[in-house]
Amino acid sequence: MLSSQHRRAIGLASGFIAPYRKQVVGALLALIVTAGITLSMGQGIRLLVDQGFMTRSPQLLNQSIGLFMVLVIGLAIGTFSRFYLVSWIGERVVADIRRQVFNHLVYLHPGFYENNRSSEIQSRLTADTTLLQSVIGSSLSLFLRNALMVIGGIVLLFITNPKLTSIVVIALPLVLAPILVFGRRVRSLSRQSQDRIADVGSYVSETLGQIKTVQAYNHQVQDERRFAVTVEQAFDTARKRIAQRAWLITLVIVLVLGAVGVMLWVGGMDVIAGRISGGELAAFVFYSLIVGSAFGTLSEVIGELQRAAGAAERIAELLRSQNIIQPPTSDLVTLPERVRGDLRLEGVRFSYPSRPESYAVDGLDLTVNAGETLALVGPSGAGKSTVYDLLLRFYDPAQGRIFIDGVPLTQLDPLDLRRHFALVSQNPALFFGTVEENIRYGNPDATAEQVREAARIAHAHDFIDKMPDGYQTHLGDGGLGLSGGQRQRLAIARALLVDAPILLLDEATSALDAQSEHLIQQALPNLMKNRTTLVIAHRLATVKNADRIAVMDQGRVVAVGTHQELVASNELYARLAALQFNVGHAAVVD
Ligand SMILES: Nc1ncnc2c1ncn2[C@@H]1O[C@H](COP(=O)(O)OP(=O)(O)O)[C@@H](O)[C@H]1O
Ligand SMILES: [Mg+2]
Repeated sequence: MLSSQHRRAIGLASGFIAPYRKQVVGALLALIVTAGITLSMGQGIRLLVDQGFMTRSPQLLNQSIGLFMVLVIGLAIGTFSRFYLVSWIGERVVADIRRQVFNHLVYLHPGFYENNRSSEIQSRLTADTTLLQSVIGSSLSLFLRNALMVIGGIVLLFITNPKLTSIVVIALPLVLAPILVFGRRVRSLSRQSQDRIADVGSYVSETLGQIKTVQAYNHQVQDERRFAVTVEQAFDTARKRIAQRAWLITLVIVLVLGAVGVMLWVGGMDVIAGRISGGELAAFVFYSLIVGSAFGTLSEVIGELQRAAGAAERIAELLRSQNIIQPPTSDLVTLPERVRGDLRLEGVRFSYPSRPESYAVDGLDLTVNAGETLALVGPSGAGKSTVYDLLLRFYDPAQGRIFIDGVPLTQLDPLDLRRHFALVSQNPALFFGTVEENIRYGNPDATAEQVREAARIAHAHDFIDKMPDGYQTHLGDGGLGLSGGQRQRLAIARALLVDAPILLLDEATSALDAQSEHLIQQALPNLMKNRTTLVIAHRLATVKNADRIAVMDQGRVVAVGTHQELVASNELYARLAALQFNVGHAAVVD
C-alpha cells in the first residue's frame, strides 16, 4: 500500500528522528494518556448526569466532580507534555535536516549549481523543511491522536449502546462525505492562494530591487498594471476559497448538529421509555462527536502527510547528490605547508556542464614558474577565467592534466589544494556582515591591525575610514551600497590577508579609476614578490609589470612572451595592445 516514495520519506524521517528516541517514547506515552483521558471524559459525563444531577445527592456530586478534576489535571499535564515534546521533536529534526542539507550543499562542486537553479534549492531548504516540521511537529501527532480517538471512540460507543451505534455507523459516511469533499476543495484552493501570494511577493521584490531602472524608463504605469493583475488573481483565488470555506462551515453545522438532533431524538425516546439513562445518552452524544471530529481531522492530516512525503523525497534527493570533485580514493598526496607555486597545464580541454557542446578551454598548454608573475590577456570569452576555475579545481578537465609543484590536482584533496590560492574574482563577492568580517573572510585569525594593513595596501583604508562605522560598517546583501571599485579593493584586501603562495587576480582592478589603479599597481610588485601570480588584465600597466604574458584565444594559449616580443610577433596581441589597452599607437611602439 505504501508507495516507494512514502517508504523513502519514512526512511529519511526515521533516520533523523532516531537520535531522539527518549522524546519520542515520552510523546507517545503522553499521546496515549491524553487520548485515554479524553475518552474517559464520556464516562465522567455519564456519572455526572446520572449520579450527580439525577440523584440530587451532594456527596455523589462531590465525588464525580472530584474525579473530573483529577482527569482535568491529568489531561492538562499530558497535553503539555505531548505538545511540548512533539513540537520539540519537529523543530529539532528540522534543524538537523537543515544543517545536514546545508553542510552537504556547501561542499558540492560548483557545476551542480549550474544545472540546479539555486533559488529552487533554497526553496527546498526553507519551504520543504518547514512543511516537514509542521508534519513531524504536529500533523503526525494529530494523526496518531485522532486514530486512537476514532478506534477508542467506536469501541466505547458500542459498549455504551450498540443500537445507537449502528445508527451512527450508517449515518457517519452520509455526514462526513460532503464535508470531506468541501474540505479537500478548500485545501487545494488555499494552496493555490499561497502560490498566488508568492507571485505577488516575487513581483514586488523584483521591481523594488531594480527601482532605478524602473524609474529611469518610466515603467511605473506598466508595473502598476501588471501588479494589479497579480494581486487580483490572488484575490480571486482567495474569494473562491472563502466561498468554499463558508459552505463548509454551514454544512458542518447543518449536518453535524442535524445528526446530533436525530440521535438525541432516537436516544431521547429510549430515555423516556426507560431503556437507557440520561447519562448514557449524554456520553453517547459525546463519543459520537469525538469520533466524527477525529475522523474529519484524520482525512485532513492524511493529505498533509502526503505532501510532506513529497517534500521529504526532494530533500533526500538533495542529500543524495554526489560531489564529483573528491579527493582520490588511493595515492592521496598531501602538499607541504607552503608550496613553491609551480603550475602546469598540459593539453587541457574542458567544457562547462551547462554547455557541453563547446570547449571553453580547448587544448591549452601553459607553464607558470614558481614566483613568476604571468599575465593572461585575450579577447573576452577566450577562456581566461576558466583557467582559474580549473586551477582551483572547481571543475575537472575532460582531457589533459594540471599540476601544482609537479603533483596532478586529481591526487590532492581539493581543500588542501585551495589553501594555497588567493583569488580575486571578476565579480568580487561580498557577504552580509561588516567590512572587517569581509576582509577577514579567508583568514579568520587575522588581527585587526593585519586587516588594516591589508586594506591600506589595497587602497581601501581611506574610504573604509570615511564610512559611518569604519571597519564595523555593515554591508548589505552582496556589498550593496559600495561602488564597483570599492568592492574590488575590499576583495583585493581579502586576498592579501590570506597570504597564499599563489595569487589569482581576475580583472581585479577593472572597475577602479585610473588613480586608484595606479596606486595599487605600485603596490602590486611588492605583493607579487615570493608569490606565483596570475593576472588577467586589460590594462597595459598591469600587463607590463608581468614577467611574461600569455595570449589566449578561443580556449588556447596562442603565444607567450614579453610585451616587446609579443607586440612584434603576435598579431592578436598587437591588436589588443592597440585597442584594448586603450593607448593607441603609443602602446605598440612603447
Ligand atoms: N559557468 C559557465 N557556464 C557555461 N559557459 C561558461 C561559463 N563560464 C564561462 N562560460 C563560457 O566559456 C567561455 C570562456 O569564458 P571565460 O573563461 O569566462 O572567458 P574570459 O574570462 O576569457 O572572458 C565563454 O564562451 C563563456 O561564455
Ligand atoms: Mg573572465
